[in-house]
Amino acid sequence: MDHQFYVNGKLCSVSASCGDISLLHYLREELHLTGAKDGCGTGQCGACTVLIDDVPKRACITKLAKLDGKQILTIEGLAVGGKLHPVQQAFLDAGAIQCGFCTPGLILTVVAFLKQNPSPSKEEIEKALNRNICRCTGYVKFIEAVELASCYLADPSLMEGNNQKDEKKSLLKKTCMLESTSIYEEVGSTVERPVDDRFIGRSLWDADGVKKATGELAFAADLNLPGQLHGALVFADIPHGVLNGLDLSEAEQMPGVARIITAKDVPAHNGYGILKQDQPIFCDGEIGFSHDVLALVLADTEAHARAAAKAVKKDITPLPPVFSMEKALEKGQIHKELGTVIGDPDTVKQEPGLTIVSGRFTTPYQEHACMETECAIANWSNETGLTITATTQSIFEVRRVLARVLGEAEERITVKAQPLGGGFGSKADLSIEAAAAVAARAVRGPVKLRINRMESLNLSTKRHPFRMDYTLGVDPEGNFRFFEAELLSDGGPYLNLSPRVIDQACLFSVGPYRMHSGRVHGVTVKTNNLPCGAFRGFGINQANFAMESLIDEAAEKIGIDPFAIRLKNAFRVGDSTVSGEILRSSVGIIETLKLCKDAAKSAYEELAPQYPKGNKVLGVGTASCFKNVGAGKGKVDDAGAIFTILPDGRIELRVSGVDMGQGFRTAMLQIASETLGIPGEEFIEINGDTSCTHHHANAVGERQTLINGSAVRESGKRFNAQLREKMHTTKERPLVGLTREERKQYAGETFSYHYASPKTYPLDDVEAKRTLPPEQYRNYPGYAYVTQTAFI
Ligand code: FES
Repeated sequence: MDHQFYVNGKLCSVSASCGDISLLHYLREELHLTGAKDGCGTGQCGACTVLIDDVPKRACITKLAKLDGKQILTIEGLAVGGKLHPVQQAFLDAGAIQCGFCTPGLILTVVAFLKQNPSPSKEEIEKALNRNICRCTGYVKFIEAVELASCYLADPSLMEGNNQKDEKKSLLKKTCMLESTSIYEEVGSTVERPVDDRFIGRSLWDADGVKKATGELAFAADLNLPGQLHGALVFADIPHGVLNGLDLSEAEQMPGVARIITAKDVPAHNGYGILKQDQPIFCDGEIGFSHDVLALVLADTEAHARAAAKAVKKDITPLPPVFSMEKALEKGQIHKELGTVIGDPDTVKQEPGLTIVSGRFTTPYQEHACMETECAIANWSNETGLTITATTQSIFEVRRVLARVLGEAEERITVKAQPLGGGFGSKADLSIEAAAAVAARAVRGPVKLRINRMESLNLSTKRHPFRMDYTLGVDPEGNFRFFEAELLSDGGPYLNLSPRVIDQACLFSVGPYRMHSGRVHGVTVKTNNLPCGAFRGFGINQANFAMESLIDEAAEKIGIDPFAIRLKNAFRVGDSTVSGEILRSSVGIIETLKLCKDAAKSAYEELAPQYPKGNKVLGVGTASCFKNVGAGKGKVDDAGAIFTILPDGRIELRVSGVDMGQGFRTAMLQIASETLGIPGEEFIEINGDTSCTHHHANAVGERQTLINGSAVRESGKRFNAQLREKMHTTKERPLVGLTREERKQYAGETFSYHYASPKTYPLDDVEAKRTLPPEQYRNYPGYAYVTQTAFI
């Protein structure tokens, strides 16, 4: 007998034989309702949450056989008549949406929760949200959004109007949004538009916020191409060895299997990686780690491909693996070694009266855990070449690498990135793009390759584990006199971005402090552990942990306040970094220390009387750091922006860059709006596409707002100049005041601009350091400074 149930009010009927299929699969693949996301596939993350008879349920572990007669509500069914549900609007108003991958599931959880408990306490809200994992936010905004939604549901008029009601004012004040104004609303919002033409410094809805709240925003895995084959990878499952061969005979006969791709199918170069293409796409010799890929099974469905991948037989001769950094060092397995010396530390350390503190610090692997796992959809045409949409922060780097893999000109390769469900550096390195590209070329057609959570955990790069031996010498007044840092990191089997990470760790090895003398030496080694690469901070975090720990120890020994010792040594304008770069402007560390000190003092006064609580005492910790803005270290920090007036009077903005949920697209629109003087909804924004945007190597290093934003601003200014001439006006922003209709007469006017920041140098470019005038030597386009105090 058929199974019958209702999805968003519509009767659905599936045959009894489909009872074992998951609701998530049915929604996504059969009904094409992709608002419910596949974050884990095992009922853990909550990204697939739907309401079944008003109760939040995990669609990924709910079988169709269990749904007879049930009412299922997905995110697509929530906004009725094009008007946002109060919970959706509250999430937008509270700024509780970042990448949006978790958003549909969270919103539905909140809808059900507030139905049961219309006026919840903070503790009840926290409890209600604890089964929906968000990687991007800190949940603070979610709690505010639920409180706001509770008010909206109690009095829907609070959602309307222009903040006239006292209740709404106090509500918005509570959520720090009194000044919030949306200029991008598409559905249902009646929030007042800005009264002037300034767009920077305002708190706005995310440019794609409505689509995220309604589940409309397509992530890579939500896309499909007609006739696509689905892929499943075959992994080595052994950390080190030699592949003698694969027996594909059984797998090839499995249902739905179209082809199995191996190293033999790689047209030109069987390796990928941004710095060096040394990670095999498909192993044909040495295996470097447990999840080296041996083959890619292509079949009509993902389930068929996965079943056949299990039937591939591997003939592997195991080799002894190297798991420890020390062993790798002993064997001379080194990816990169570098260092620098400032002053004369050997003499300085003999100075009388120094307090010398030292220690060994270790930091572990860390997984980025983006809610969205990796996916690539590739298509090949003999005429136009390869088009691939992938979960990548590095569209131009992927294009460069795939050109080498396929033996094609870069012009015959187009790489696109949908908005990412989180990046955090994990999608800066390549992962499955090359396998998908080789497969698409082999079958001369479309291939979709999506890896699941466990595969993502095993295949993606991690934060480098570090072992750090640090010594810090401080004089009786608390001045830093010398340091020694020996940094050792595990890069895993392939180069990835390890050389640049150890470079960065060395450059930031003493944090945002003046250092009289010292030496740092860094080595990253090759092991058979998981590959390591970019992760937020990119090597700074590890070194910072060691240095800040020693500063506290030194302060205690000398008897100085932790803030005082940091303030005494903090960078001022004109100071030099470890590498010798002179900091010429915007050195903000002292301001952060002062602000944090004041805030920490009042927090301490509030918290201290509450402790001890039973056997718990109050813990307090403070740390400072500085961070590069821009990838620097010799890499070109570039981006471009192209403005065009369209036939319908709107403005097309094509801007380099990728949105990972950090609000990149919103920030670019704000800068464009500010520069041209027209609101965001008048723009069509295009990004993440190598075929129509300027070169921009990758979305890393906190650089997109600075570099890509500079490109937008500079392009916009020049576009204004061009329009002034065309329109015979002296108005600084000639489009201000023109309606969309009036702009039509200038359709086709366009301006294209490519921006590159001043040249930078890596630490080991000693020639640059030696020959350049000091004012020209720099490692990065800029820096940001921070101090934090935590109470536990
Ligand atoms: Fe929650 Fe990105 S906004 S995972």
